[in-house]
Amino acid sequence: MTLILGIETSCDETAAAVVADGQTIRSNVVESQVEIHRRYGGVFPEVASRQHVLSILPVIGQAMADAEADWDDLDAVAVTHGPGLAGSLLVGVNAAKGLAWGRGLPLVGVNHIEAHICGNWLVSGPPPEFPLVCLVASGGHSELIWMTGHGQYRRLGSTLDDAAGEAFDKVGRLLGLPYPGGPSIQRAARGGSPAAFKLPRAWLPGTYDFSFSGLKTAMLQLVQKYQPEGNGSPAGKSRAAGSQPQLMRVLPVANLAASFQAAVIDVLVTKTVQAAQDMDAKTVLLAGGVAANELLRAEMVRNSPVPVRCPPLELCTDNAAIVATAGFFRFQAGERSGWDLDVVPGLRLAAEQDTSAS
Ligand code: KG4
Ligand code: ZN
Repeated sequence: MTLILGIETSCDETAAAVVADGQTIRSNVVESQVEIHRRYGGVFPEVASRQHVLSILPVIGQAMADAEADWDDLDAVAVTHGPGLAGSLLVGVNAAKGLAWGRGLPLVGVNHIEAHICGNWLVSGPPPEFPLVCLVASGGHSELIWMTGHGQYRRLGSTLDDAAGEAFDKVGRLLGLPYPGGPSIQRAARGGSPAAFKLPRAWLPGTYDFSFSGLKTAMLQLVQKYQPEGNGSPAGKSRAAGSQPQLMRVLPVANLAASFQAAVIDVLVTKTVQAAQDMDAKTVLLAGGVAANELLRAEMVRNSPVPVRCPPLELCTDNAAIVATAGFFRFQAGERSGWDLDVVPGLRLAAEQDTSAS
């Protein structure tokens, strides 16, 4: 049995987990900073790294206690070293280095995107079948990845501007919904019609790339039409005295949320299904925070020609169990990081390749 301590601090979650054989979660502690960042409407990097410093050792201690594990029971320490916020990554990497060095354990640096993908192996039952197409959609990334085995990736396409989750977060703010926008928009959308507003989809024919900036602009223009004075600031902002109330119309938040969500999911699903067909994939995987979206999960299952796998909801957003699992596969392959392991805020998963959508 191989027992790995995973550590994750790439953004605004301080997390540690103990996982056996890359499959059995012994503990999974996540301390979210979401309440702290909510007042800023997004992650405030400096505040995030300071909070990681305060939380990291208690969170690791809790993960070890929950797992009823001794340091001697561990085989390795795995840590996210990129991509992410430099100041946040530094806290996890330094903690992992210190603990691994002090306890004489091997250190394994993990790519955060790979960790998200590996969440699909943290479930019981048969593992996903290769080769596969994986849609990674999170707050920082939107990529279509071709995977022929563990650690074997080719990037088919990625976003040209905002990540899908980032678009959810920005539009959530525009609609006056609480951060993070993804879950808020999903909730608001339940009461609205996806056909209420006709919104643009960036198909970018001949590529597996994504773009959400046009859709975001369309949303901004719609909000401004309802609330000219708001100028894109959060909906519901109070008006200046003496202004003309007839210009200010109540924002149809549910319909806007539902139409926006449908537009994003439409593109994500269509492009992923296209890639799966073109590449003759055996499986479609979902990964990253946006994979928690109920419409995305349902529509992908409805449209995909091959089985769709997605991590359980709680493993879609940032946590360290997925880091431990990614670390397990690398550890098994004989990979060890040096004590000079550094943070790489722009770390990529795979090189660009020239396969174009047909
Ligand atoms: O993977 P994650 O926790 O962090 C990054 O690596 O970025 O993803 C967070 C992102 C946020 O943008 C959040 O709005 C989005 O995932 N998200 C969702 C949902 N839950 C989280 N987006 C759409 N629908 C959801 N249910
Ligand atoms: Zn993430």
